[in-house]
Amino acid sequence: MKLMTRFSLSHSGTVILTLLISFFFIYEGARLTYQRQARLSQEQQISDLALAAKESLVQHEDVAVLNFMKSVVRNPLVVYAAYSNFSSGTHTVLPQTLDKELLADWQKSKPADSSASGSGQPNTFRLSNGLEIVEWSSTPRLEGHAAGLVRLGFSKAALEKDLAGQTSKWTQLESEAGVAALIMGLFVSLWLGRHLAAPLKKISEGTHLVRSGKLDSLVEVNRPDEIGDLARDFNSMVVQLKELDEMKRDFTAGVTHDLGTPLHAIRSAINYLQAGDAGPLTEKQSEYLLMVSNSTGNLTAFINNLLTTARIEAAKVEPYPEPVDVFAHVKELVDLYQPQAQERGVKLMLVKKAPYISLVADVTMFRQITLNLLSNALKFTSNGEVEVILSEENGNFILETRDTGIGIDPKHHQLIFEKFYRVHQPTGSPAPQGSGLGLTIVKGLTEAHGGKVMLESELGQGSVFRVTLPKQPRRI
Ligand SMILES: Nc1ncnc2c1ncn2[C@@H]1O[C@H](COP(=O)(O)OP(=O)(O)OP(=O)(O)O)[C@@H](O)[C@H]1O
Ligand SMILES: [Mg+2]
Repeated sequence: MKLMTRFSLSHSGTVILTLLISFFFIYEGARLTYQRQARLSQEQQISDLALAAKESLVQHEDVAVLNFMKSVVRNPLVVYAAYSNFSSGTHTVLPQTLDKELLADWQKSKPADSSASGSGQPNTFRLSNGLEIVEWSSTPRLEGHAAGLVRLGFSKAALEKDLAGQTSKWTQLESEAGVAALIMGLFVSLWLGRHLAAPLKKISEGTHLVRSGKLDSLVEVNRPDEIGDLARDFNSMVVQLKELDEMKRDFTAGVTHDLGTPLHAIRSAINYLQAGDAGPLTEKQSEYLLMVSNSTGNLTAFINNLLTTARIEAAKVEPYPEPVDVFAHVKELVDLYQPQAQERGVKLMLVKKAPYISLVADVTMFRQITLNLLSNALKFTSNGEVEVILSEENGNFILETRDTGIGIDPKHHQLIFEKFYRVHQPTGSPAPQGSGLGLTIVKGLTEAHGGKVMLESELGQGSVFRVTLPKQPRRI
């Protein structure tokens, strides 16, 4: 998962969690407040009714309490209001439909504290129609004696619905605020994620460039935080790498040049001895001299490769273009390698796909390209086939080597063109000799002509190297 996605998700998760917790507390707080307010209002209503009843008892006139009862039962939460006058023995229930039921009920279970004048805890019970009632009662007193009883029945379901209605306003408000906070949180987390991920992406791109050999790839991240520190460290590392690379290049160029001169002298001495100019050689001497000659040849080839690589890196390769008899040169090289091919059980073929193939290029470099590809194809193939194919396509010259050898895992495709890179061969398999410079040279010389090299290969499936050269070099 990408850093930005991970960051956005965890940030949004934190926002949602915080919102849920705060919603819970706000909702519960609001619910408890409304519950208390509703209870206070019920208490207020029963004590007002008790007051009206007391007034009526004092005046021996029930009109005041009856009027009050009429207004109270208009409240949709109130199911009934009842009043009993103990001195006259009258009972009034509003609405009258509940008269009998409530009277019987009241006589059965007179409130336990009918002697008390204040309102106590509400009583809950069910009416015969199943309606659950929360009943408040109070006993108005005259001269210390209970003179009557008032009762107010509230519908429990209506009370709960009212409470739910009040709190649902909060729920709605909270959800709207929650959605707004969530959207804002998401934007903030996306912005933050981008803010953090963008410089890291730049550094990662820089790393890829450095990996592909572009040592001028400094990243521009000017931040005072840890990411800024990382970018600065990365840049100083790239600068150091570049310095090291230049030192290595200078060293290689210097050493190869210094080695070349004595090697040249050794070669001349060998030729002199082999020609017998210093007197006749014994059989053993000739044998040793041949070994020295071969080793000197290998060493000279290696030093020449190093020199060419150093020149390529210093961009000092300048092709000397001239018309190349492509077929003749490639055939000569193929013929040169035929004995080695036979020895390895390889059928080596040269295929010409166009009747006349023309190319203007540096002959020595063209031969070096062909030689390196051909020697690789043979080196990594045994008991199979190697084809060198010459053709033309879209006005370009194409040189292709196809082999049925060990093949190359795609993860190495880019790397094998780097200096000294060789694919590690599995233990037990014969390790072909080489210094890992051949393909660097092929690529460098091809590009110096304005061409390109392509590779198609899978492990165990053989390899195809395809060099495309413009018929006239572009960089003359
Ligand atoms: N035709 C091929 N089949 C399989 N592997 C190959 C082939 N050509 C190149 N390679 C792989 O690429 C690596 C680099 O090749 P390159 O020619 O640069 O070096 P080398 O052949 O090992 O040494 P040098 O060419 O300097 O003598 C080889 O070591 C080998 O692992
Ligand atoms: Mg090679």
